[in-house]
Amino acid sequence: MLKPHELSLDEMGDLAQIIPGPDPEVKLSYQTIPSFDALSRSSFIPVCQPTLGGNELRYVQRAVETNWISSAGSFIREFESRFAAACGVKYGIACANGTVALHLALATLGLQPGDEVILPTFTMIATINAVAYCGATPVLVDSEPAFWQMDIAQVAAKITPRTRAIIPVHTYGHPVDMDALNELACRHGIYVIEDAAEAHGAEYKGRRAGGLGAAASFSFYGNKIITTGEGGMVTTDNEAIARLAWNLRDHAFSHERHFWHKHMGYNYRMTNLQAAVGLAQVEQMDGFVAARRRNAAHYSRLLAQVPGITTPPEAEWAKNVFWMYGILVDEAAYGMNRDQLRRVLADHGVETRTFFIPMHCQPVYWQHFQGQRFPVAERLCRDGFYLPSASSLSASEIEYVTAVIRDAQG
Ligand SMILES: Cc1ncc(COP(=O)(O)O)c(C=O)c1O
Repeated sequence: MLKPHELSLDEMGDLAQIIPGPDPEVKLSYQTIPSFDALSRSSFIPVCQPTLGGNELRYVQRAVETNWISSAGSFIREFESRFAAACGVKYGIACANGTVALHLALATLGLQPGDEVILPTFTMIATINAVAYCGATPVLVDSEPAFWQMDIAQVAAKITPRTRAIIPVHTYGHPVDMDALNELACRHGIYVIEDAAEAHGAEYKGRRAGGLGAAASFSFYGNKIITTGEGGMVTTDNEAIARLAWNLRDHAFSHERHFWHKHMGYNYRMTNLQAAVGLAQVEQMDGFVAARRRNAAHYSRLLAQVPGITTPPEAEWAKNVFWMYGILVDEAAYGMNRDQLRRVLADHGVETRTFFIPMHCQPVYWQHFQGQRFPVAERLCRDGFYLPSASSLSASEIEYVTAVIRDAQG
């Protein structure tokens, strides 16, 4: 039987201090604060939820009525080409989720055991797992403190003759500094595969995430900017990568004869039902991105004067899509720490989520990275959390949440 990798906080030394405790229980009705009586009648403000107000039902109904519910229906190709166009690339390969989309993109490179892949420690577990699924060796770098993204100087320092790929993760919807990264990768003949799971519509110097490397992967999980419930996509301008990804996604069936396989493929297909939802969602994507940027600007205005709260950054070359609106709490300046503030918010019916726990702190990878330290990622993990961030969030909900944060300070 498979056994879990156990890691007690005692074994982690001072790293244990950054590991958050369990989520606080969110009270199911808002505790009133005098000026928000209307809101107090609702149940709670979720950290995220999908917005399904477009053609979703109509398209799903069409899929059912035409009897095309598996992965061969026409919504798949339509969703793939619409989403690829939205990213400014030629090809989209729809997949079952964002994790397998990243694995699929990496699999097209033909990585071998011993090959190294550089990625940020500050990411979601799927990024490193996709590297491990390929049998390649993950190499971690820290984030830079200004925009919380992969530190390119550290990438340069970690390149070896065995480095085959780099995975920039556009964390929380802010793009990585791609020119610097691509220049470095090009000089060393290394592939760049974007993990754009959180960055639908994000832009780097006017170019969309998903078209900034050799290939990219997206997630359409329920909390993403556009969703298919579960789902993902590889995007690329490279025809060879696209053709191979389509083939590997579908068990690597050969075109010569049926049940003839020249690669070890996968079943990473998306269903036509999911693609029907996806097509309706991509039609609304620009509106969702605009709403998230508007909401972020409103949050940032209202939190600007609160001592000890750092609001999310945006580089002048970036269009941040604020998949999640994350803040940092400086305990000394704010007067309470991140976990205490989350508890106050939960008591007021506001759901929040802590930032990622870095990969070098994960029980499953602890042995591999033991002794390595990444101070920026560790600080983000200790002090960061995100506030409700759905595209459908209202201005008064944002005003309520920020009022709780201001009042908690006393
Ligand atoms: C950075 C990153 N990569 C990959 C994934 C995996 O996507 P999925 O949950 O669709 O498998 C996520 C999911 O949230 C993510 O945040």
